[in-house]
Amino acid sequence: MAVAVYTEPRMRNLFSFTGSKEPDAAGRKPVHIAVIMDGNGRWAKKRGLPRLAGHRAGSESVRRMLTYCRDAGIRYLTLYAFSTENWSRPKDEVSGLMHLLEGFIKEHESDLLEKQVRLRVIGRRHDLPEKLQTEIARLEKETEAFDRQLLVALSYSGRAELTDAVRRIAERICDGSLRPGEIDETTISANLYAPDVPDPDLIIRTSGEMRISNFLLWECAYSEFYVTPVLWPDFQEQDFLAALDAYAARDRRFGGVKA
Ligand code: IPE
Ligand code: IPE
Ligand code: MG
Repeated sequence: MAVAVYTEPRMRNLFSFTGSKEPDAAGRKPVHIAVIMDGNGRWAKKRGLPRLAGHRAGSESVRRMLTYCRDAGIRYLTLYAFSTENWSRPKDEVSGLMHLLEGFIKEHESDLLEKQVRLRVIGRRHDLPEKLQTEIARLEKETEAFDRQLLVALSYSGRAELTDAVRRIAERICDGSLRPGEIDETTISANLYAPDVPDPDLIIRTSGEMRISNFLLWECAYSEFYVTPVLWPDFQEQDFLAALDAYAARDRRFGGVKA
């Protein structure tokens, strides 16, 4: 089946990568990019390799992506690494992925420190193996003072995030600190996993699938979507820049009309 892909012309000259933390005056540079890193399995299959080899190659793409984001002055990067539904995959793949994630934390420690990036994990982290939880907590603490952030969605789904938010809100109603009539959108946003992080401006999905797969369901309300057929392990700087160019050419109206 043919995959529709945005092919806006390269528009790099319209904005400059100054490394500043805020968007340019026209808001053409995303403050927050989120990525559905898909296609590792297909990448491996094409090469006659086990799926885990694709996940390993995908981990190298993560390392490159951190450099692209630093160079482009992107303040927040969220990576969808493992969904609540991914637990249903074959046992070997799941345990291999958990092992890779532990290695990822160890291997990326110096990279995060050198690039001054704060690591945060969003999702049901208590589902993760204990050793991985400990490593995550350690690196989160070590990097907590840094301004730029890498959010990794692990055992994450948008529905689980909203369900967990509803539970927290319900607890406040039960303890009398909140009345149902006081609940508004701010109450819900404030009870998500990373309430201080702005909604993603740009969501990139690799491997051509045109779906959200339970990612950031609340936060994506006005995100711009960019789907590329490139498989995640093949994702290179030119693909990242093409996504930024497409974003720069979008007309974000947020339901309003142009003055
Ligand atoms: C994305 O790659 C990584 C995870 C979901 C963990 P996939 O493993 O989904 O790769 P495909 O979609 O089978 O190619
Ligand atoms: C989405 O990819 C989850 C991650 C990238 C971690 P999936 O491969 O799990 O999603 P579907 O099954 O194609 O919707
Ligand atoms: Mg997939």
